Amino acid sequence: MGTELVTGGAGFLGGAYVRNRLGEPDAKLVVLDKLTYAASRDAIPAESDRLAFVQGDIVDASLVGDLLSRFDIERIVHFAAETHVDRSIDDPVAFAATNVLGTAVLLDQARRWWSGRDRTRRDRFRFVQVSTDEVFGQLGSEGRFRVGAPYAPRSPYAASKAGADHFVRAFHATYGLPTIVVTASNLFGPYQFPEKLIPLLTANAIEGRPLPIYGDGSHVREWLHVDDLCRGITLAWRRGEAGRTYLMGGGQECANRRVAEAVCDAVDRLLPSLPHRPCRSLITYVPDRPGHDARYALDHESARRELGWCPSDDFAERLEATVRWYIDHAEWLRGTTRHYDRRRLGQPRHEG
Ligand SMILES: NC(=O)c1ccc[n+]([C@@H]2O[C@H](COP(=O)([O-])OP(=O)(O)OC[C@H]3O[C@@H](n4cnc5c(N)ncnc54)[C@H](O)[C@@H]3O)[C@@H](O)[C@H]2O)c1
Repeated sequence: MGTELVTGGAGFLGGAYVRNRLGEPDAKLVVLDKLTYAASRDAIPAESDRLAFVQGDIVDASLVGDLLSRFDIERIVHFAAETHVDRSIDDPVAFAATNVLGTAVLLDQARRWWSGRDRTRRDRFRFVQVSTDEVFGQLGSEGRFRVGAPYAPRSPYAASKAGADHFVRAFHATYGLPTIVVTASNLFGPYQFPEKLIPLLTANAIEGRPLPIYGDGSHVREWLHVDDLCRGITLAWRRGEAGRTYLMGGGQECANRRVAEAVCDAVDRLLPSLPHRPCRSLITYVPDRPGHDARYALDHESARRELGWCPSDDFAERLEATVRWYIDHAEWLRGTTRHYDRRRLGQPRHEG
């Protein structure tokens, strides 16, 4: 089996993917990661004959081109991105730079490398784009996004991911590059940077700080465990057809205020001597995020039928295990405060 280039492999999802893949004895990976504030180098093993780590930017075409030929890459799994919606409200151009331009650079280097391979190698090659349900915009209380749903992004983050997806689709149509798009719902699990809902709530609950919930907390997300998605991504490049998009949702919808209550109850159970229990008393409703999407949900039927992929249905147990992980990794959580003090981001001031 050839070598895989994993961009963003020191991030939350990329790191989980690297750890999962290295569980297979014949996997050989090269991680390319800029090591932004969101990365955890410690979340993936030290370099070995099966794992090379390169700190660098996906926008750097010569670096990407060099890695493709130096490591004789057979597959690119592309996770690297700026990922936090609130930060995209404060600095949208940074999101265009990494998510749109970075993806275009990767694709362009990939098609140059791929077009010079022989027929067998070209057929085997895959470029896997990891995307988000947010590219489709928001849903009302009914229905699910299906494959082929129109793109209607509403945040700068979602717009930048949509732009990247369009480049991926264009490279398949124009050059025949064998691409696959995996579009996922909200993820949870270990090593997620505590600007995202579940680790933020957990960290603040442990420390007795307010748990900010945007608006009235009625926004609904579909939660998927990160390991389920890693399994799905591997199935997508193993069994999936080039040019296709696979939607992978967790199937377990939950309003943000219910997620907050579940996190609080788990912290109460796991840390019974906390002085500020019950943690639900820390829940604080704050002004809503501008353009906050009401609901997302994905129809994962074609991933089930074509790839044999299904999410697990044990959200409550896995949420508690995730909360336990953050409690057991207090040192890691403390380390993230070097980059982010958990203040509210993404509230644009109106100028003039
Ligand atoms: N987390 C989710 O709920 C979720 C859901 C659906 C899709 N996704 C997608 O999955 C991917 C990974 O998300 P995540 O939650 O792990 O993000 P993350 O923010 O935890 O990690 C992103 C990683 O990318 C790296 N990176 C950022 N800019 C880079 C650049 N210019 N060059 C090289 N590396 C760079 C960072 O250092 C970091 O390690 C993203 O593309 C995201 O859009 C995430």
